[in-house]
Amino acid sequence: MRFILLQLVVTACWAAWAARANGPVPSTHGQVVSAHPLASQAGLQILQAGGNAIDAAVATGLALAVVHPAAGNLGGGGFMVLALKDGRATTLDFRETAPAAARAGMYLGADGQLVPSSNHEGFRAVGIPGTIAGFDLALRRYGVKSWSEVTQPAVRLAREGIPLTPALAQEFAQLQADWRRNPAAAAIFLKPDGSTFAAGELWRQPDLARTLTRLQNKGRDGFYRGPVARALAAAMKDHGGLITTRDLATYAAIERAPLRGNYRGWEILSMPPPSSGGTALIEMLNILERHDLSALGHNSAPYLHLLTETMRRAFADRARFLGDPEANPSLSATVARLTSKEHAARLDRTIRPDAAAVSDPIRLNEAYESPETTHYSVIDAAGNAVVVTYTLENSYGARVVPDGLGFLLNNEMGDFNPQPGRTDATGLIGTSPNLIRPGRRMLSSMSPTIVRRDGQPVLLVGSPGGRTIINTVLQVILNTVDFRMDLSTAVAAPRLHHQWLPDELVLESLTAGQPVPWPRVELERLGHRVRLGGAQGRVMAIQRLPGQEGYLGAADPRDPDAAAAGY
Ligand code: GLY
Repeated sequence: MRFILLQLVVTACWAAWAARANGPVPSTHGQVVSAHPLASQAGLQILQAGGNAIDAAVATGLALAVVHPAAGNLGGGGFMVLALKDGRATTLDFRETAPAAARAGMYLGADGQLVPSSNHEGFRAVGIPGTIAGFDLALRRYGVKSWSEVTQPAVRLAREGIPLTPALAQEFAQLQADWRRNPAAAAIFLKPDGSTFAAGELWRQPDLARTLTRLQNKGRDGFYRGPVARALAAAMKDHGGLITTRDLATYAAIERAPLRGNYRGWEILSMPPPSSGGTALIEMLNILERHDLSALGHNSAPYLHLLTETMRRAFADRARFLGDPEANPSLSATVARLTSKEHAARLDRTIRPDAAAVSDPIRLNEAYESPETTHYSVIDAAGNAVVVTYTLENSYGARVVPDGLGFLLNNEMGDFNPQPGRTDATGLIGTSPNLIRPGRRMLSSMSPTIVRRDGQPVLLVGSPGGRTIINTVLQVILNTVDFRMDLSTAVAAPRLHHQWLPDELVLESLTAGQPVPWPRVELERLGHRVRLGGAQGRVMAIQRLPGQEGYLGAADPRDPDAAAAGY
Protein backbone atom coordinates (compact mmCIF):
# COMPACT_ATOMS: atom_id res chain seq x y z
CA MET A 1 0.00 0.00 0.00
CA ARG A 2 2.83 2.35 0.95
CA PHE A 3 4.54 1.58 -2.35
CA ILE A 4 1.35 2.35 -4.31
CA LEU A 5 0.83 5.63 -2.45
CA LEU A 6 4.43 6.70 -3.07
CA GLN A 7 4.00 5.75 -6.72
CA LEU A 8 0.84 7.89 -6.97
CA VAL A 9 2.56 10.90 -5.41
CA VAL A 10 5.62 10.57 -7.63
CA THR A 11 3.50 10.07 -10.74
CA ALA A 12 1.55 13.26 -9.98
CA CYS A 13 4.82 15.20 -9.42
CA TRP A 14 6.26 13.76 -12.58
CA ALA A 15 3.25 14.79 -14.71
CA ALA A 16 3.32 18.30 -13.20
CA TRP A 17 7.09 18.49 -13.79
CA ALA A 18 6.68 17.44 -17.41
CA ALA A 19 4.00 20.05 -18.03
CA ARG A 20 5.67 22.88 -16.11
CA ALA A 21 9.18 22.62 -17.46
CA ASN A 22 8.97 22.35 -21.17
CA GLY A 23 5.64 22.08 -22.73
CA PRO A 24 3.85 20.67 -24.41
CA VAL A 25 4.15 23.53 -26.92
CA PRO A 26 1.35 23.32 -29.49
CA SER A 27 1.70 24.71 -33.00
CA THR A 28 -0.18 24.55 -36.27
CA HIS A 29 2.51 25.33 -38.85
CA GLY A 30 5.90 24.21 -37.64
CA GLN A 31 7.91 23.32 -34.61
CA VAL A 32 11.55 23.17 -33.49
CA VAL A 33 12.68 21.53 -30.24
CA SER A 34 16.33 21.83 -29.19
CA ALA A 35 18.71 22.20 -26.26
CA HIS A 36 18.52 26.02 -26.23
CA PRO A 37 15.60 28.45 -26.79
CA LEU A 38 17.70 30.70 -29.06
CA ALA A 39 18.57 27.75 -31.30
CA SER A 40 14.91 26.70 -31.50
CA GLN A 41 14.04 30.34 -32.32
CA ALA A 42 16.72 30.35 -35.06
CA GLY A 43 15.06 27.39 -36.75
CA LEU A 44 11.62 28.92 -36.30
CA GLN A 45 12.80 32.17 -37.89
CA ILE A 46 13.87 30.25 -41.02
CA LEU A 47 10.54 28.37 -41.15
CA GLN A 48 8.64 31.66 -40.90
CA ALA A 49 10.78 33.12 -43.68
CA GLY A 50 9.63 30.36 -46.05
CA GLY A 51 12.33 27.79 -45.37
CA ASN A 52 11.43 24.13 -45.04
CA ALA A 53 12.30 21.79 -42.16
CA ILE A 54 15.67 20.99 -43.74
CA ASP A 55 16.68 24.67 -43.89
CA ALA A 56 15.45 25.13 -40.32
CA ALA A 57 17.40 22.08 -39.16
CA VAL A 58 20.62 23.51 -40.60
CA ALA A 59 19.95 26.93 -39.05
CA THR A 60 19.21 25.31 -35.68
CA GLY A 61 22.39 23.23 -35.87
CA LEU A 62 24.51 26.30 -36.65
CA ALA A 63 22.86 28.26 -33.83
CA LEU A 64 23.47 25.40 -31.38
CA ALA A 65 27.17 25.66 -32.29
CA VAL A 66 26.99 29.18 -30.83
CA VAL A 67 24.66 28.79 -27.84
CA HIS A 68 25.23 25.15 -26.79
CA PRO A 69 28.99 24.65 -27.22
CA ALA A 70 29.11 21.43 -25.16
CA ALA A 71 27.72 19.52 -28.13
CA GLY A 72 26.39 21.92 -30.77
CA ASN A 73 29.21 22.16 -33.24
CA LEU A 74 31.05 22.99 -36.42
CA GLY A 75 33.97 20.76 -35.39
CA GLY A 76 32.11 17.49 -34.82
CA GLY A 77 29.76 15.20 -36.72
CA GLY A 78 26.40 13.47 -36.62
CA PHE A 79 23.38 12.10 -38.39
CA MET A 80 20.17 13.46 -39.90
CA VAL A 81 17.02 11.44 -40.66
CA LEU A 82 14.45 12.98 -43.01
CA ALA A 83 10.85 12.01 -43.77
CA LEU A 84 9.73 14.20 -46.66
CA LYS A 85 6.22 15.41 -47.37
CA ASP A 86 6.08 13.29 -50.56
CA GLY A 87 6.65 10.10 -48.55
CA ARG A 88 10.35 9.66 -49.33
CA ALA A 89 12.67 8.99 -46.40
CA THR A 90 16.43 9.22 -46.25
CA THR A 91 19.38 9.80 -43.93
CA LEU A 92 22.55 11.84 -44.06
CA ASP A 93 25.69 10.50 -42.42
CA PHE A 94 28.19 13.19 -41.48
CA ARG A 95 30.06 11.18 -38.88
CA GLU A 96 33.72 12.14 -38.44
CA THR A 97 36.38 9.97 -40.11
CA ALA A 98 39.90 8.93 -39.11
CA PRO A 99 42.64 11.04 -40.75
CA ALA A 100 44.85 9.45 -43.44
CA ALA A 101 47.75 9.20 -40.97
CA ALA A 102 45.69 7.37 -38.31
CA ARG A 103 46.70 3.80 -37.41
CA ALA A 104 45.02 1.01 -35.44
CA GLY A 105 47.58 1.11 -32.63
CA MET A 106 48.10 4.88 -32.52
CA TYR A 107 47.05 5.22 -28.87
CA LEU A 108 49.26 2.40 -27.55
CA GLY A 109 52.46 2.96 -25.55
CA ALA A 110 55.80 1.20 -26.01
CA ASP A 111 54.44 -1.63 -23.84
CA GLY A 112 51.64 -2.24 -26.35
CA GLN A 113 48.97 -1.05 -23.88
CA LEU A 114 46.50 1.80 -24.32
CA VAL A 115 47.94 5.03 -22.89
CA PRO A 116 45.05 6.00 -20.58
CA SER A 117 42.74 8.71 -22.04
CA SER A 118 45.09 9.35 -25.00
CA ASN A 119 42.29 8.55 -27.47
CA HIS A 120 40.08 11.20 -25.85
CA GLU A 121 42.53 14.05 -25.24
CA GLY A 122 43.72 17.01 -27.28
CA PHE A 123 44.43 17.40 -30.97
CA ARG A 124 45.42 13.73 -31.58
CA ALA A 125 41.91 12.60 -30.58
CA VAL A 126 40.18 14.67 -33.27
CA GLY A 127 38.36 13.01 -36.17
CA ILE A 128 37.84 14.90 -39.44
CA PRO A 129 34.76 17.05 -38.77
CA GLY A 130 31.64 16.21 -40.80
CA THR A 131 28.95 18.64 -39.63
CA ILE A 132 29.37 21.31 -42.31
CA ALA A 133 29.57 18.73 -45.12
CA GLY A 134 26.38 17.16 -43.77
CA PHE A 135 24.57 20.48 -43.60
CA ASP A 136 25.77 21.31 -47.11
CA LEU A 137 24.44 18.02 -48.47
CA ALA A 138 21.11 18.61 -46.70
CA LEU A 139 20.74 22.10 -48.16
CA ARG A 140 21.77 21.13 -51.70
CA ARG A 141 19.56 18.04 -51.93
CA TYR A 142 16.54 18.99 -49.85
CA GLY A 143 16.62 22.65 -48.76
CA VAL A 144 15.16 25.72 -50.45
CA LYS A 145 17.31 28.34 -48.72
CA SER A 146 20.94 29.29 -49.30
CA TRP A 147 23.95 29.12 -46.99
CA SER A 148 23.77 32.88 -46.85
CA GLU A 149 20.25 32.75 -45.35
CA VAL A 150 20.53 29.81 -42.96
CA THR A 151 23.68 31.19 -41.31
CA GLN A 152 22.11 34.56 -40.47
CA PRO A 153 20.72 33.72 -36.99
CA ALA A 154 23.96 32.02 -35.90
CA VAL A 155 26.17 34.86 -37.14
CA ARG A 156 24.04 37.34 -35.22
CA LEU A 157 24.09 35.29 -32.01
CA ALA A 158 27.89 34.91 -32.16
CA ARG A 159 28.53 38.56 -33.07
CA GLU A 160 26.04 40.28 -30.77
CA GLY A 161 26.36 37.76 -27.96
CA ILE A 162 23.90 35.97 -25.72
CA PRO A 163 23.14 36.25 -21.99
CA LEU A 164 24.71 33.22 -20.32
CA THR A 165 22.27 30.85 -18.66
CA PRO A 166 23.23 29.65 -15.15
CA ALA A 167 23.91 26.16 -16.56
CA LEU A 168 26.33 27.46 -19.21
CA ALA A 169 28.17 29.81 -16.84
CA GLN A 170 28.60 26.93 -14.40
CA GLU A 171 29.95 24.57 -17.08
CA PHE A 172 32.47 27.14 -18.34
CA ALA A 173 33.71 27.70 -14.78
CA GLN A 174 33.94 23.97 -14.03
CA LEU A 175 36.22 23.45 -17.05
CA GLN A 176 38.53 26.42 -16.45
CA ALA A 177 41.58 24.17 -15.96
CA ASP A 178 41.01 22.75 -19.47
CA TRP A 179 40.61 26.23 -20.98
CA ARG A 180 43.85 27.41 -19.39
CA ARG A 181 45.74 24.64 -21.21
CA ASN A 182 44.58 25.96 -24.63
CA PRO A 183 44.80 29.77 -25.02
CA ALA A 184 42.40 29.79 -28.01
CA ALA A 185 39.76 28.05 -25.86
CA ALA A 186 40.52 30.35 -22.90
CA ALA A 187 39.87 33.33 -25.17
CA ILE A 188 36.31 32.04 -25.64
CA PHE A 189 35.32 30.56 -22.29
CA LEU A 190 37.15 32.91 -19.90
CA LYS A 191 37.22 36.70 -19.70
CA PRO A 192 40.32 38.55 -20.96
CA ASP A 193 41.66 38.78 -17.38
CA GLY A 194 41.27 35.01 -16.97
CA SER A 195 38.27 35.16 -14.62
CA THR A 196 35.06 33.23 -15.22
CA PHE A 197 31.73 34.50 -16.56
CA ALA A 198 28.68 34.83 -14.33
CA ALA A 199 25.13 33.86 -15.27
CA GLY A 200 23.36 36.66 -17.11
CA GLU A 201 26.55 38.21 -18.52
CA LEU A 202 26.71 38.89 -22.25
CA TRP A 203 28.88 36.28 -23.99
CA ARG A 204 30.19 37.25 -27.44
CA GLN A 205 32.20 35.07 -29.85
CA PRO A 206 33.81 37.26 -32.54
CA ASP A 207 36.13 34.52 -33.93
CA LEU A 208 33.19 32.15 -34.34
CA ALA A 209 31.19 34.95 -35.99
CA ARG A 210 34.04 35.33 -38.53
CA THR A 211 34.12 31.60 -39.26
CA LEU A 212 30.34 31.52 -39.66
CA THR A 213 30.58 34.49 -42.02
CA ARG A 214 32.96 32.45 -44.20
CA LEU A 215 30.32 29.71 -44.32
CA GLN A 216 27.73 32.36 -45.13
CA ASN A 217 29.79 33.51 -48.12
CA LYS A 218 31.34 30.26 -49.35
CA GLY A 219 29.23 27.41 -47.95
CA ARG A 220 31.05 24.10 -47.53
CA ASP A 221 34.27 25.44 -49.08
CA GLY A 222 34.38 28.10 -46.38
CA PHE A 223 35.19 25.25 -43.96
CA TYR A 224 36.97 22.49 -45.88
CA ARG A 225 39.16 24.75 -48.06
CA GLY A 226 40.80 28.15 -47.72
CA PRO A 227 41.72 29.99 -44.50
CA VAL A 228 39.64 27.87 -42.08
CA ALA A 229 41.04 24.57 -43.41
CA ARG A 230 44.60 25.96 -43.40
CA ALA A 231 44.28 27.28 -39.83
CA LEU A 232 42.80 23.98 -38.64
CA ALA A 233 45.59 21.93 -40.29
CA ALA A 234 48.24 24.33 -38.91
CA ALA A 235 46.87 23.91 -35.38
CA MET A 236 47.02 20.14 -35.87
CA LYS A 237 50.67 20.35 -36.92
CA ASP A 238 51.59 22.60 -33.99
CA HIS A 239 49.92 20.38 -31.39
CA GLY A 240 50.66 16.82 -32.58
CA GLY A 241 47.33 16.26 -34.36
CA LEU A 242 46.98 14.35 -37.63
CA ILE A 243 44.40 16.17 -39.77
CA THR A 244 45.80 17.79 -42.96
CA THR A 245 44.29 20.16 -45.53
CA ARG A 246 43.99 17.13 -47.82
CA ASP A 247 41.99 15.21 -45.18
CA LEU A 248 39.62 18.17 -44.97
CA ALA A 249 39.28 18.68 -48.73
CA THR A 250 38.44 15.01 -49.30
CA TYR A 251 35.89 14.56 -46.47
CA ALA A 252 32.46 13.53 -47.80
CA ALA A 253 29.06 13.24 -46.10
CA ILE A 254 27.07 10.23 -47.31
CA GLU A 255 23.36 9.83 -48.03
CA ARG A 256 22.16 6.42 -46.90
CA ALA A 257 18.83 4.60 -46.97
CA PRO A 258 17.19 4.70 -43.53
CA LEU A 259 16.77 1.57 -41.48
CA ARG A 260 13.10 0.66 -41.46
CA GLY A 261 11.18 -1.30 -38.88
CA ASN A 262 7.53 -1.97 -38.21
CA TYR A 263 6.30 -1.90 -34.63
CA ARG A 264 2.63 -2.80 -34.16
CA GLY A 265 1.84 -1.08 -37.46
CA TRP A 266 3.95 2.02 -36.73
CA GLU A 267 6.77 2.56 -39.22
CA ILE A 268 10.17 3.21 -37.63
CA LEU A 269 12.76 5.20 -39.64
CA SER A 270 16.17 5.37 -38.02
CA MET A 271 19.89 5.58 -38.59
CA PRO A 272 21.85 2.70 -40.15
CA PRO A 273 25.58 2.05 -39.46
CA PRO A 274 27.95 3.65 -38.69
CA SER A 275 25.34 4.30 -36.03
CA SER A 276 24.38 1.27 -34.00
CA GLY A 277 21.20 3.13 -32.98
CA GLY A 278 18.69 2.12 -35.64
CA THR A 279 19.81 -1.51 -35.67
CA ALA A 280 19.59 -1.99 -31.90
CA LEU A 281 16.34 -0.01 -31.63
CA ILE A 282 14.54 -2.07 -34.29
CA GLU A 283 15.96 -5.32 -32.92
CA MET A 284 14.56 -4.46 -29.47
CA LEU A 285 11.18 -3.31 -30.78
CA ASN A 286 10.84 -6.58 -32.70
CA ILE A 287 11.41 -8.60 -29.53
CA LEU A 288 9.03 -6.45 -27.46
CA GLU A 289 6.30 -6.60 -30.12
CA ARG A 290 5.89 -10.26 -29.22
CA HIS A 291 4.58 -9.26 -25.77
CA ASP A 292 1.54 -7.35 -24.49
CA LEU A 293 3.45 -4.59 -22.70
CA SER A 294 0.46 -2.58 -21.55
CA ALA A 295 -0.89 -5.70 -19.81
CA LEU A 296 2.41 -5.98 -17.90
CA GLY A 297 2.05 -2.38 -16.68
CA HIS A 298 4.39 0.57 -17.14
CA ASN A 299 7.61 0.17 -15.12
CA SER A 300 6.25 -2.92 -13.33
CA ALA A 301 8.83 -5.57 -12.39
CA PRO A 302 7.82 -8.01 -15.20
CA TYR A 303 7.97 -5.14 -17.75
CA LEU A 304 11.37 -3.91 -16.54
CA HIS A 305 12.72 -7.46 -16.54
CA LEU A 306 11.60 -8.05 -20.13
CA LEU A 307 12.99 -4.67 -21.22
CA THR A 308 16.33 -5.38 -19.55
CA GLU A 309 16.70 -8.83 -21.08
CA THR A 310 15.85 -7.35 -24.49
CA MET A 311 18.47 -4.62 -24.06
CA ARG A 312 21.09 -7.17 -22.93
CA ARG A 313 20.66 -9.17 -26.14
CA ALA A 314 20.59 -6.24 -28.57
CA PHE A 315 23.68 -4.66 -27.01
CA ALA A 316 25.58 -7.95 -27.24
CA ASP A 317 24.83 -8.02 -30.99
CA ARG A 318 25.83 -4.36 -31.26
CA ALA A 319 29.25 -5.00 -29.72
CA ARG A 320 29.85 -8.08 -31.80
CA PHE A 321 28.85 -7.00 -35.27
CA LEU A 322 28.61 -3.24 -35.84
CA GLY A 323 31.06 -0.71 -37.30
CA ASP A 324 31.60 1.40 -40.42
CA PRO A 325 29.67 -0.16 -43.33
CA GLU A 326 32.31 0.95 -45.87
CA ALA A 327 34.94 -1.05 -44.00
CA ASN A 328 32.74 -4.08 -43.29
CA PRO A 329 31.32 -5.23 -46.66
CA SER A 330 28.98 -7.90 -45.27
CA LEU A 331 27.44 -5.51 -42.71
CA SER A 332 24.23 -4.74 -44.61
CA ALA A 333 23.35 -8.46 -44.68
CA THR A 334 24.16 -8.69 -40.97
CA VAL A 335 22.00 -5.67 -40.16
CA ALA A 336 19.12 -7.15 -42.20
CA ARG A 337 19.41 -10.32 -40.12
CA LEU A 338 19.63 -8.48 -36.79
CA THR A 339 16.55 -6.39 -37.58
CA SER A 340 14.46 -9.31 -38.83
CA LYS A 341 11.40 -10.67 -37.01
CA GLU A 342 13.00 -14.15 -37.15
CA HIS A 343 16.06 -13.00 -35.22
CA ALA A 344 13.76 -11.35 -32.65
CA ALA A 345 11.81 -14.60 -32.26
CA ARG A 346 15.04 -16.54 -31.72
CA LEU A 347 16.27 -14.10 -29.07
CA ASP A 348 12.87 -13.89 -27.41
CA ARG A 349 12.88 -17.65 -26.88
CA THR A 350 16.06 -17.28 -24.79
CA ILE A 351 14.42 -14.83 -22.35
CA ARG A 352 13.25 -16.49 -19.12
CA PRO A 353 10.39 -14.67 -17.36
CA ASP A 354 11.63 -15.83 -13.96
CA ALA A 355 15.39 -15.12 -14.12
CA ALA A 356 17.92 -12.64 -15.48
CA ALA A 357 20.52 -13.97 -17.90
CA VAL A 358 24.21 -13.35 -17.26
CA SER A 359 26.20 -11.22 -19.70
CA ASP A 360 29.29 -13.18 -20.68
CA PRO A 361 32.43 -11.05 -20.37
CA ILE A 362 34.56 -13.74 -21.99
CA ARG A 363 32.92 -12.96 -25.31
CA LEU A 364 33.00 -9.25 -25.99
CA ASN A 365 33.08 -5.92 -24.27
CA GLU A 366 33.01 -2.48 -25.73
CA ALA A 367 34.46 0.97 -25.86
CA TYR A 368 33.49 3.97 -23.83
CA GLU A 369 31.14 6.44 -25.44
CA SER A 370 30.46 9.81 -23.97
CA PRO A 371 26.98 10.95 -23.00
CA GLU A 372 27.58 14.45 -24.36
CA THR A 373 25.78 14.89 -27.61
CA THR A 374 22.70 16.87 -28.57
CA HIS A 375 19.49 16.10 -30.44
CA TYR A 376 16.89 18.33 -32.06
CA SER A 377 13.67 17.79 -34.00
CA VAL A 378 12.05 19.98 -36.66
CA ILE A 379 8.78 19.77 -38.60
CA ASP A 380 7.32 22.25 -41.09
CA ALA A 381 3.82 23.16 -42.25
CA ALA A 382 4.06 20.86 -45.29
CA GLY A 383 4.88 17.88 -43.06
CA ASN A 384 8.62 17.54 -43.80
CA ALA A 385 10.18 16.04 -40.68
CA VAL A 386 13.86 16.21 -39.77
CA VAL A 387 15.68 14.80 -36.74
CA VAL A 388 19.36 15.50 -36.07
CA THR A 389 21.69 14.12 -33.44
CA TYR A 390 25.23 15.51 -33.59
CA THR A 391 28.15 15.59 -31.22
CA LEU A 392 31.67 16.53 -30.22
CA GLU A 393 31.86 13.19 -28.28
CA ASN A 394 32.79 14.39 -24.76
CA SER A 395 31.19 17.50 -23.33
CA TYR A 396 33.04 20.32 -25.15
CA GLY A 397 34.84 17.65 -27.24
CA ALA A 398 38.64 17.63 -27.10
CA ARG A 399 38.38 21.03 -25.31
CA VAL A 400 40.73 22.56 -27.85
CA VAL A 401 40.12 25.33 -30.37
CA PRO A 402 42.30 26.08 -33.44
CA ASP A 403 43.75 29.62 -33.18
CA GLY A 404 41.40 32.30 -34.48
CA LEU A 405 38.58 29.95 -35.62
CA GLY A 406 36.37 30.18 -32.54
CA PHE A 407 35.02 26.60 -32.50
CA LEU A 408 35.80 23.48 -30.47
CA LEU A 409 37.11 20.27 -32.00
CA ASN A 410 35.67 16.81 -31.34
CA ASN A 411 37.44 13.91 -29.63
CA GLU A 412 35.50 11.33 -31.61
CA MET A 413 38.55 9.09 -32.26
CA GLY A 414 37.74 7.78 -28.77
CA ASP A 415 34.70 5.99 -30.21
CA PHE A 416 36.98 3.55 -32.10
CA ASN A 417 38.19 0.37 -30.40
CA PRO A 418 41.66 1.53 -29.33
CA GLN A 419 43.61 -1.68 -28.68
CA PRO A 420 43.40 -4.30 -31.45
CA GLY A 421 42.71 -7.77 -30.12
CA ARG A 422 42.33 -6.74 -26.47
CA THR A 423 38.84 -7.26 -25.10
CA ASP A 424 38.42 -7.42 -21.35
CA ALA A 425 36.12 -6.81 -18.42
CA THR A 426 37.53 -3.32 -17.77
CA GLY A 427 35.63 -1.97 -20.78
CA LEU A 428 38.21 -2.37 -23.53
CA ILE A 429 37.12 -3.93 -26.78
CA GLY A 430 39.50 -4.87 -29.57
CA THR A 431 37.24 -6.44 -32.18
CA SER A 432 37.84 -5.61 -35.81
CA PRO A 433 34.59 -4.00 -37.11
CA ASN A 434 35.41 -0.81 -35.19
CA LEU A 435 39.24 -0.60 -35.27
CA ILE A 436 40.96 2.60 -36.46
CA ARG A 437 41.75 2.70 -40.19
CA PRO A 438 42.40 5.80 -42.34
CA GLY A 439 39.10 7.20 -43.60
CA ARG A 440 36.96 4.91 -41.43
CA ARG A 441 33.93 6.18 -39.45
CA MET A 442 33.83 5.27 -35.74
CA LEU A 443 30.78 3.40 -34.38
CA SER A 444 28.10 5.61 -32.81
CA SER A 445 24.96 5.17 -30.73
CA MET A 446 23.18 8.29 -31.97
CA SER A 447 19.61 7.36 -32.87
CA PRO A 448 17.62 10.17 -34.49
CA THR A 449 14.30 8.48 -35.24
CA ILE A 450 11.02 9.29 -36.96
CA VAL A 451 7.88 7.19 -36.41
CA ARG A 452 5.22 7.27 -39.13
CA ARG A 453 1.63 6.11 -39.15
CA ASP A 454 -0.19 5.73 -42.48
CA GLY A 455 2.74 7.50 -44.14
CA GLN A 456 2.56 10.57 -41.84
CA PRO A 457 5.31 11.45 -39.34
CA VAL A 458 3.70 11.17 -35.90
CA LEU A 459 6.72 11.14 -33.59
CA LEU A 460 10.16 12.75 -33.99
CA VAL A 461 12.56 11.69 -31.26
CA GLY A 462 16.21 11.50 -30.23
CA SER A 463 18.54 12.17 -27.31
CA PRO A 464 22.15 12.53 -26.22
CA GLY A 465 23.59 9.98 -23.83
CA GLY A 466 26.20 7.69 -25.47
CA ARG A 467 24.95 4.13 -25.45
CA THR A 468 21.96 5.10 -23.27
CA ILE A 469 20.60 7.03 -26.29
CA ILE A 470 19.24 3.87 -27.88
CA ASN A 471 17.39 2.80 -24.72
CA THR A 472 16.09 6.32 -24.11
CA VAL A 473 14.59 6.52 -27.61
CA LEU A 474 13.16 3.01 -27.20
CA GLN A 475 11.37 3.94 -23.96
CA VAL A 476 9.87 7.16 -25.37
CA ILE A 477 8.46 5.13 -28.29
CA LEU A 478 7.05 2.46 -25.94
CA ASN A 479 5.57 5.11 -23.63
CA THR A 480 3.83 6.68 -26.61
CA VAL A 481 2.70 3.58 -28.52
CA ASP A 482 2.04 0.97 -25.81
CA PHE A 483 1.22 3.13 -22.82
CA ARG A 484 -0.50 5.93 -24.77
CA MET A 485 1.14 8.69 -22.71
CA ASP A 486 0.92 12.24 -23.91
CA LEU A 487 4.26 13.44 -25.24
CA SER A 488 5.47 15.43 -22.23
CA THR A 489 4.69 12.55 -19.88
CA ALA A 490 6.36 10.06 -22.23
CA VAL A 491 9.51 12.22 -22.30
CA ALA A 492 9.57 12.90 -18.56
CA ALA A 493 8.91 9.30 -17.42
CA PRO A 494 11.77 7.66 -15.43
CA ARG A 495 14.10 5.56 -17.58
CA LEU A 496 16.44 2.60 -17.25
CA HIS A 497 19.52 1.38 -19.07
CA HIS A 498 21.26 -1.96 -19.61
CA GLN A 499 24.02 -2.37 -22.18
CA TRP A 500 25.04 -6.02 -21.78
CA LEU A 501 28.41 -5.18 -20.24
CA PRO A 502 28.96 -4.18 -17.56
CA ASP A 503 26.17 -6.47 -16.42
CA GLU A 504 24.16 -3.94 -14.43
CA LEU A 505 20.72 -2.43 -14.63
CA VAL A 506 20.92 1.34 -14.15
CA LEU A 507 17.73 3.05 -12.94
CA GLU A 508 17.27 6.81 -12.81
CA SER A 509 17.21 7.62 -9.12
CA LEU A 510 15.12 10.80 -9.22
CA THR A 511 12.22 12.18 -11.15
CA ALA A 512 11.17 15.79 -10.58
CA GLY A 513 13.47 15.77 -7.56
CA GLN A 514 11.65 12.79 -5.96
CA PRO A 515 12.94 9.20 -5.59
CA VAL A 516 11.48 6.92 -8.26
CA PRO A 517 9.50 4.02 -6.74
CA TRP A 518 11.20 1.30 -8.78
CA PRO A 519 10.36 -2.31 -7.85
CA ARG A 520 14.03 -2.83 -6.99
CA VAL A 521 13.54 -5.78 -4.62
CA GLU A 522 11.62 -7.78 -7.25
CA LEU A 523 14.25 -7.03 -9.87
CA GLU A 524 17.06 -8.13 -7.59
CA ARG A 525 15.12 -11.29 -6.78
CA LEU A 526 15.06 -12.06 -10.53
CA GLY A 527 18.86 -11.80 -10.52
CA HIS A 528 19.46 -8.26 -11.82
CA ARG A 529 22.37 -6.23 -10.48
CA VAL A 530 20.67 -2.90 -9.91
CA ARG A 531 22.39 0.47 -9.59
CA LEU A 532 20.72 3.86 -9.17
CA GLY A 533 22.09 6.46 -11.58
CA GLY A 534 21.66 10.09 -12.62
CA ALA A 535 19.46 11.58 -15.33
CA GLN A 536 19.38 9.48 -18.51
CA GLY A 537 19.31 11.49 -21.75
CA ARG A 538 17.65 14.73 -22.75
CA VAL A 539 14.92 14.03 -25.29
CA MET A 540 13.76 16.67 -27.79
CA ALA A 541 10.57 15.35 -29.39
CA ILE A 542 7.66 16.40 -31.59
CA GLN A 543 4.35 14.59 -31.89
CA ARG A 544 1.54 14.83 -34.37
CA LEU A 545 -1.66 13.26 -33.16
CA PRO A 546 -3.13 10.96 -35.84
CA GLY A 547 -6.15 12.56 -37.49
CA GLN A 548 -5.46 15.97 -35.92
CA GLU A 549 -3.91 19.13 -37.30
CA GLY A 550 -0.82 20.63 -35.77
CA TYR A 551 2.01 19.45 -33.57
CA LEU A 552 3.07 19.19 -29.95
CA GLY A 553 6.71 19.78 -29.03
CA ALA A 554 8.31 18.59 -25.79
CA ALA A 555 11.79 19.41 -24.51
CA ASP A 556 13.09 17.15 -21.77
CA PRO A 557 12.63 18.62 -18.27
CA ARG A 558 16.02 17.01 -17.45
CA ASP A 559 17.64 19.86 -19.44
CA PRO A 560 17.14 23.28 -17.79
CA ASP A 561 17.98 25.19 -20.99
CA ALA A 562 16.00 23.15 -23.55
CA ALA A 563 12.95 24.64 -25.27
CA ALA A 564 10.37 24.03 -27.96
CA ALA A 565 9.35 26.82 -30.34
CA GLY A 566 6.40 26.67 -32.70
CA TYR A 567 4.07 28.88 -34.71
N1 GLY B 1 29.98 10.01 -29.36
C1 GLY B 1 28.72 9.49 -29.01
C2 GLY B 1 28.09 8.66 -30.08
O1 GLY B 1 28.45 8.82 -31.23
O2 GLY B 1 27.25 7.84 -29.83
